[in-house]
Amino acid sequence: MKNLNNLSNKVINEIYRDGYSIVKNVLNKKKCNDIIKHLDKLEDKEANNKYHTDERSKFGQVVIRDLVLRSPKHFLKLIDNNLIIKVLNKVFKEPSILDNCMASKTTNVNKNYFGLVHIDSHLPSYSNENTSDIVACYCLDDFTKENGATKVWPKSHLSGIRIQNSKNYSNLIKKKNKYVEAKKGSIIFFLGQTWHQIGKNINNQRRWGILCHYKRWWIKPSTEWTKCGPSIYKLLNNKQKELFGFNSISPEFNLKKQYKNLKTLRKSSKLSKNYFKVIQY
Ligand SMILES: [Fe+2]
Repeated sequence: MKNLNNLSNKVINEIYRDGYSIVKNVLNKKKCNDIIKHLDKLEDKEANNKYHTDERSKFGQVVIRDLVLRSPKHFLKLIDNNLIIKVLNKVFKEPSILDNCMASKTTNVNKNYFGLVHIDSHLPSYSNENTSDIVACYCLDDFTKENGATKVWPKSHLSGIRIQNSKNYSNLIKKKNKYVEAKKGSIIFFLGQTWHQIGKNINNQRRWGILCHYKRWWIKPSTEWTKCGPSIYKLLNNKQKELFGFNSISPEFNLKKQYKNLKTLRKSSKLSKNYFKVIQY
């Protein structure tokens, strides 16, 4: 526990100083390879799914969003990793929710490569204290300059600039940047306001990562996790319910009684086990 405390403090010092931080050996090799096996299967499955949106594969990035709904048994445990939760609690100092849990693989598409330099937060921030989003990227393979390691702009998290919307984009991205090279099994933490870009894969080496993106509880997530249905709900522990947003649903106004609960936030320990029997969608 003391180690976790020290490690989370180290992560926070680094993300506050540089905008990102790398922690080695979070997952062992076998775990990484097991997860990759599931991702490969999911990738094949999606290739045959006529509803699947292929967002960016022609530009050099395979994206599979919403992993915790597609295959909860394999991916749920990644979202409430102890170190991640410790960092979230210390930075936000209030409950957090999951924005998304998605897989990202780089592929070599030569000249067709494209990746916008961007921030994940909707609001840029001049300060660490007002960070609204934190991202934890599990590196399931070694991340190297040649296989498309994520590129970051150190200290850009304090610029207050939403780089993808800047009129000065072309000039600003010339600022000092670096490839975040990390060993298989590492987590790369970065603040949602840190400028970053998917790297270019030039050596065809596999590079799978899983991005777990978190926000403050009062921000709308990119997927409505609370519609996950009873069979997934049953699998969630209290922390995962919180991350799914079950403890921060806006209260309904009861028209008959002309009444509603005043608070949006509620304790996840007080959530009903039969949530989906009580609330019908
Ligand atoms: Fe991003």
